Formats: sequence, structure tokens, C-alpha cells
Amino acid sequence: MRTITWNDETHQVEMIDQRLLPRDFKILTYDQYQGVAEAIRTMVIRGAPAIGAAAAFGMALAAYQSGAKTMAGLQADLKAAGDHLNTARPTAVNLAWAIRRMLDAVQRFDGTPDALRAQVLKLAMDIADEDVEINKRLATYGAALIEDGDHIVHHCNTGALATVDWGTALGVIRMAHEQGKRIHVFVDETRPRLQGARLTAWELEQYGIPYDIITDGSSGYLMRKGLVQKVLFGADRVAANGDVANKIGSYMLALAAYDNAIPAYSVFPVSTVDFELPRGELIPIEEREDAEVLDLTLMGKPVAPVKATARNFAFDVTPNRLISGWVTEKGVIYPPFDVNMQAAMGK
Ligand code: MRU
Repeated sequence: MRTITWNDETHQVEMIDQRLLPRDFKILTYDQYQGVAEAIRTMVIRGAPAIGAAAAFGMALAAYQSGAKTMAGLQADLKAAGDHLNTARPTAVNLAWAIRRMLDAVQRFDGTPDALRAQVLKLAMDIADEDVEINKRLATYGAALIEDGDHIVHHCNTGALATVDWGTALGVIRMAHEQGKRIHVFVDETRPRLQGARLTAWELEQYGIPYDIITDGSSGYLMRKGLVQKVLFGADRVAANGDVANKIGSYMLALAAYDNAIPAYSVFPVSTVDFELPRGELIPIEEREDAEVLDLTLMGKPVAPVKATARNFAFDVTPNRLISGWVTEKGVIYPPFDVNMQAAMGK
């Protein structure tokens, strides 16, 4: 099933509450765009492509929330909704990408306010449908890189839950599995929100793909022991020079892979490339509340001293020189990324 859907009867957006998985499976419903922004911020829904789709459906809610009777009034309400949704999380560019795509269409639209409302909803549905189609396409390119018997380290959650459906890096793994390749996944647990141990492990169980959860610091040791053939992770924002912002820990994983001559691929749709940002250092990196790090118990007791403080950067930036290739819906793109991406974009 899809991570996010539109209920045509109630005019509400429905999302799987990812904070509760894998113990509880619950669907939350939203009828206001402000609620969708809060769902993105609190990570009811997360993962760059899923955040983009959520923002698009948030705009559809805003169109129906607005009582504007004129085109100018409705366009102004949608602009305000877009500005609000845009602040929900800073790093995944898919959020701004989806909102910009919606607002461009809103500005160009020629017709009545009610026709514009219907058009905004249609565009949100298109963005969601395209995401699934793009994921399957890039997964087919990526699966060709996977060999029978590969052991793959995967970081965070990049599966159906991180997208509308199917997934990016985990989608590659799923596609290779469906093609009959025998693969095994080392699942980084991905502190502090544990998207790997909770969400990726849950998805892999459903697909029948063998896996072991590993602590985030383990992968270098496994590589040194010759137990890893590939590293796959997603992306939240890719700079024009090929630097990749992704879940915190991706940089250290890519470093270890580089040192062990193991290919590390970043898998993402082209909508994750921020062509306006020349280098990775310019990517805004979200820092979340320290409670996410400190609220950890062992044998029922808090781990850290009572007065402990923490820094909680949600993402890091992997320099392009550590990345073997990008897997996108345009194909696998190899370094130099800036040059080869331009060629691929023409496809
Ligand atoms: O903080 P999250 O869970 O939204 O972070 C998600 C990631 O970093 C994913 O790897 C990335 O969004 C790619 S998802 C296809």
C-alpha cells in the first residue's frame, strides 16, 4: 500500500504513522495543510520523496481550505500555504521542488477558482503516481549493478515508506531480489530515530529478503572482513557538483567503503538534485532536538547523565569523490557527475 494517499470521498490526506512502526500500523488523516506540515516536521511521514508528495497533497488541502472566490485570492492563499509547508524540514529538496512545481502551475493557470482547485489536486496525484513510476525505473537500472550473492550495507530507510511506494536504494534491493538474485542486507540501525532497525527491517521482512541489523559503527569492520560487496543509500539533496546530503552516518559509511574499494552508490530521483547549489557545503543541514539522542534507556534506565546535552544533526554531506555512482531514473551516472549529469538529463 502507499505511504500517503488522497481520500476522494472525505477530501482528506491519509498517511501511515511511521513513528509507530513496526509495533503498530496506524493511518492518520489530515484535512488541513498545517497538519500536513506538522506531520512532516514530527516525522509521521519522512524520506525525501515522501516529503515531496506530502507537501503536494498539503497544497491540495490548502486549495480546498481556502474560501477565496477570486483567482487572485486563491493564488495568494496557495502561496501562503506553500511558504508554510516549505519550513517543515530544511534538507530534503523534494519539499521545495514539489511546492515550486505546484505554485508554477498555479501562477500559469487560466480558469475559475474551482477549476484551479481541481487542477492542484490532479497535480498532487500526478506527483505521487510519477514517484512510484520513477522509483521502479531507477530500481531497474540499479538492480543491474547487483550481483547474485551480494551482501549490501544499506543506511536509513529508503524503501516504500520513504517514498510514495517501492523505494529508491531499498527499491534497487527489492528489484534485484524479485529478479531472483540472492542477496543479503546489512541494515544500519541509523541512530537516533532508528529508521533502519524499525522501518527497513520491517520492509525487508515483508519482501522476504534476508537481513541482519548492525550498529552504525559496524560496517567498516564488516568491510575489512570481506563481508560486504556494495553500499547503497539514498539522498535528501544533491548539489550540482555531485556532493550528496543524506541521513547522518552516510559520510562515514562512504569513507569506509572508499578505503576498502567497495562501490558506494547513492540512489535518488533527479528531483533530489538541487541544480542551483554548486557545492555540498551550501546544503542546509537540519539539526533536531537533543532529546532524540538523549532519550535512550538501557535496562529501563536513561543512558546519559541527567545533565547531558547532545548535538543532533539529522544529515551529513558525502563529497562526490567518495561516491561510485548515482542511480537515477535517467540511468546510472558516473563521475565526473556535473558533466555526466548534463548528458543524462538530455535523455
Ligand atoms: O530523516 P529522514 O528519515 O527523513 O531521512 C531520510 C533519509 O535520509 C533517506 O535516506 C533519504 O530521504 C532518501 S529516501 C528515499
